[in-house]
Amino acid sequence: MKISIFGLGYVGCVSLGCLAQNGNQIIGVDVEPLKVDLINQGKPTIIEKDIDNIIAEQHSLGRIRATANVYEAVNETEISIICVGTPSGPEGHLNLDYIFKTAQQIGEVLKEKDGFHVVAIRSTVLPGTNMKVGAMIEEASGKKRNVDFSVVSNPEFLREGTAVADYYNPPYTVIGSDNEKAKQIMTEVYSQVGGSMEIVDIPVAELIKYINNSYHALKVVFGNEVGSVCKKLGIDSHEVMRLFCLDTKLNLSPYYFKPGFAYGGSCLPKDLKALKTLAHDSYIDVPVINSIEASNTRSKNALLELILKKGKMKVGVMGISFKAGTDDLRYSPIVDVIEKLIGKGYEVKVFDKNVHVSRLIGKNKSFIKEFLPHLDNLLIEDMQEVADWADLIILNNSDKMYRELKISDSKAIVDLVRFPEFKGMPGYEGILW
Ligand SMILES: NC(=O)c1ccc[n+]([C@@H]2O[C@H](COP(=O)([O-])OP(=O)(O)OC[C@H]3O[C@@H](n4cnc5c(N)ncnc54)[C@H](O)[C@@H]3O)[C@@H](O)[C@H]2O)c1
Repeated sequence: MKISIFGLGYVGCVSLGCLAQNGNQIIGVDVEPLKVDLINQGKPTIIEKDIDNIIAEQHSLGRIRATANVYEAVNETEISIICVGTPSGPEGHLNLDYIFKTAQQIGEVLKEKDGFHVVAIRSTVLPGTNMKVGAMIEEASGKKRNVDFSVVSNPEFLREGTAVADYYNPPYTVIGSDNEKAKQIMTEVYSQVGGSMEIVDIPVAELIKYINNSYHALKVVFGNEVGSVCKKLGIDSHEVMRLFCLDTKLNLSPYYFKPGFAYGGSCLPKDLKALKTLAHDSYIDVPVINSIEASNTRSKNALLELILKKGKMKVGVMGISFKAGTDDLRYSPIVDVIEKLIGKGYEVKVFDKNVHVSRLIGKNKSFIKEFLPHLDNLLIEDMQEVADWADLIILNNSDKMYRELKISDSKAIVDLVRFPEFKGMPGYEGILW
């Protein structure tokens, strides 16, 4: 394939060498003449393991060259990959000037060019950028998106220092596209790269890099906060985190990662509080650990606001325990919300096959006595009766039996779990989707 690469920095230089090594014909473009000269001398623009040999070899095979001439680069290729910088502005906003300048330049060349052209945004850009780039190219070229050209979002996941190895073995290759032909072309471009090919909606592809990097930053900070607690207490932090990482069931796993409602139950709130207090009493500052509870409270408040906004005064709740398959009500986050709704004059009825007030004992009983003393009056034994009575139905846990509910189109549904059965209904709203 014939590919032009805009921006010959870390991402562009590695892409240039590796795509050439995979047999493609590459033209690099950069506004810095020195970078263009280096590539044309068979030298990399960056210091990175293996890239010097790759560039030298591919240059000698005649597969790579560079130019400052955008016309030549776009006109002689069928794909343009944008790898220009996207720095932060002074207030932290993303600066997309280089991306838009490149889009404008590509559009001007496409005005005269025949054939379908794919523009792939490899730089890290926020959602919405792909559509803006498409509109700019349409305006500059007079051509139509998805007829004459397509814009795909194709974020890069390499890390400096291991960039070539990461290029060939990424966690996955992401293609965000709204065009079948472009999807096929991009799948072929990366056919020799490891990991799965994930073809997704454009905004998903645009956002994922930010989510990945924010989480990576959170991992570093969390590990360091654990380290500071351990050091103060004379506990080996690396041994603690080794054990932490050994748990691939709950810790390093997809578990707990689905957007939904607040956490609760008898353990998470209590143990988090204990760790916070331990850090506080030991004069250790752990801002991330300290902020977890506030974020969880925000989830409960957000649900309350969502319910209030619906303006439906009869609320039916499916499931009151903190998760399906248990009668444990201790710190079940929905209890907080129900209590507030009742305080605001809402009528609430609850179905939960596992919860019978007469059978509650011990701490579970005293929790309900303190936070929802009239639960007995709210509980109804028949879930369909609750659904028929309510104007608004809250699906609070994932018990499969709720799939059987018959809910009329006039009802509002707030789903905290993501039941596919109700998703298309007129009154349906997911808590976080
Ligand atoms: N460096 C990384 O590890 C890494 C990893 C993944 C993603 N990214 C993202 O990839 C993008 C590029 O990052 P980088 O580290 O390679 O940046 P970089 O600063 O090393 O390189 C960007 C290059 O683009 C060139 N450029 C600017 N405007 C241009 C234009 N109009 N036409 C042609 N060239 C132009 C610059 O001269 C520079 O050489 C950024 O969005 C970054 O966030 C970087």
